Amino acid sequence: MKYAIVTGGARGLGLGIVTALLDEKVVDEIAVIDKDLAPAPAAIAAKVHGFQGDVTDEASVHAAVESITKRFGAHPDVLCNNAGGGERAWFESGRRTQWDSVETWRKYVDLNLNSVYIVTRDVAPRMRAGGAICNTASIAGLLATPFLAAYAAAKAGVISYTKTLALQLGPSGIRVNAVAPGLIYTRVWENLGAAMGGGDAQARATFEAVVNQTVPLRREQTMDDIGRAVSWLCSERARNVTGQIVSIDGGITLGRPPGE
Ligand SMILES: NC(=O)c1ccc[n+]([C@@H]2O[C@H](COP(=O)([O-])OP(=O)(O)OC[C@H]3O[C@@H](n4cnc5c(N)ncnc54)[C@H](O)[C@@H]3O)[C@@H](O)[C@H]2O)c1
Repeated sequence: MKYAIVTGGARGLGLGIVTALLDEKVVDEIAVIDKDLAPAPAAIAAKVHGFQGDVTDEASVHAAVESITKRFGAHPDVLCNNAGGGERAWFESGRRTQWDSVETWRKYVDLNLNSVYIVTRDVAPRMRAGGAICNTASIAGLLATPFLAAYAAAKAGVISYTKTLALQLGPSGIRVNAVAPGLIYTRVWENLGAAMGGGDAQARATFEAVVNQTVPLRREQTMDDIGRAVSWLCSERARNVTGQIVSIDGGITLGRPPGE
């Protein structure tokens, strides 16, 4: 029996990752660590097990990982460090000024970068050769942005740490990669779109405007797009791939507006 630990797997991209890992039979069971658990869809519910945990808190992560390894076995096969993003109040405070408060900056870095270290530090030493780790970075970590400076800096840190970790764990036969998702309409974007202009009523329209202005393929990305890429990176089919950052962004990181 193979199993994966997926942080932030209760909804959004994490749920896309959980669904794809099971659908493509990369693992048989999934342990989700999430601070706000939700029931998995009926079709996969029997194979998805929720463990309450806050990825920014070492004691909370350790307790969840201990419970998971007791239940599913001492050696996790796959780790997906996906929990991250931000909260509406953080997005709104960043919108008002280019300077985040130091407290908000720390929260972004804690949730998006330090969490990856905290969870990996607990899980990776338990993994064996053939194991795979995939971190959810962001195109924000590859591009400059006048908004979301702390988020972008933290995701750039995830990209750097992914490469270092791939070097550190390579000799143990454990691969480490990251995905850099583009624009996916999850809860994060509902909050971000609202903060960027027009409130809740305009959130989806703001999102669509950004998609039209920035995506060469002129389509938004989906949970399924990200899940399938993560699933491939964690599977045997990617057995010779490590230290890579795969953008799933419809071409945004080509750096040119569509059609120009
Ligand atoms: N949505 C996008 O367009 C987009 C783009 C690029 C990258 N990302 C990244 O994808 C990842 C998932 O984002 P999403 O859009 O699915 O967001 P989401 O808010 O829909 O889901 C995030 C999940 O993580 C959980 N979570 C949040 N903080 C946590 C904590 N401290 N401990 C444990 N669980 C926690 C939430 O409860 C939730 O289930 C994040 O790392 C985000 O930065 C998202």
